[in-house]
Amino acid sequence: MPKNWPMWLGLVLGLGAIAFAFATQTGTIEQWNNAAKYTARVGFPLLILAYVARPLVDLTRSDWSKAILAKRKYIGLGFAMSHTVHLAALVTAIEVSGEGKGLVTYVFGGLAYAILYAMAFTSKTAAMKAMGKWWKRLHRTGIHYLWFIFLQSYVGRIFREETMSEGVLLASVAIAAGGIRFAAWIKQRNRRAKAVTA
Ligand code: HEM
Repeated sequence: MPKNWPMWLGLVLGLGAIAFAFATQTGTIEQWNNAAKYTARVGFPLLILAYVARPLVDLTRSDWSKAILAKRKYIGLGFAMSHTVHLAALVTAIEVSGEGKGLVTYVFGGLAYAILYAMAFTSKTAAMKAMGKWWKRLHRTGIHYLWFIFLQSYVGRIFREETMSEGVLLASVAIAAGGIRFAAWIKQRNRRAKAVTA
């Protein structure tokens, strides 16, 4: 199996999400609206895995977490692939329905795409070296921002009766991932404090 398989998995999941929307919905508008939704959703596990890969190693030092970390770059690229399909699906959904989205969605979603592609195009080791500390700044801020978009989207669903259960479930996953990062951050901070006082 090629080592970049998680990247292609992202593409397969994205295209599979469109196929699923077409198989389960009727009417072109409903099919593309749901394709927009499902293509975003299938990328969620990939983003969460990339988000918690390093903290899981810091917290557990386990072989399985190291295996996830070793694949993090391609998992992130898989998310970029699935979200490229999301972009195609939502542009089509807007086109066939004739209903645009709010300015806030375009601004925050557009910024997320700018960050996502900046991260994807600088994922090679050469770019990492060339960018120095700016690489870490871009990638750390970027992944928090992408995580936050999912978090706010899913938390928002909790307050609507028809989407409450999926909101609770998906927001819990996002919050748990944030908790894992926070726990690893505390552990690192304590370790650094100990090293200074030793
Ligand atoms: C200009 C850019 C974007 C636009 C116009 C847009 C539009 C949409 C639309 C129309 C949906 C379907 C909503 C529904 O029926 O529930 C959707 C779902 C979603 N999008 Fe995007 N999107 C954009 C970018 C992004 C980005 C960059 C992210 C993530 C970083 C993202 C995350 C989501 C999430 C989490 C959902 C909900 C998926 C679910 O139900 O599980 N979107 N978006």
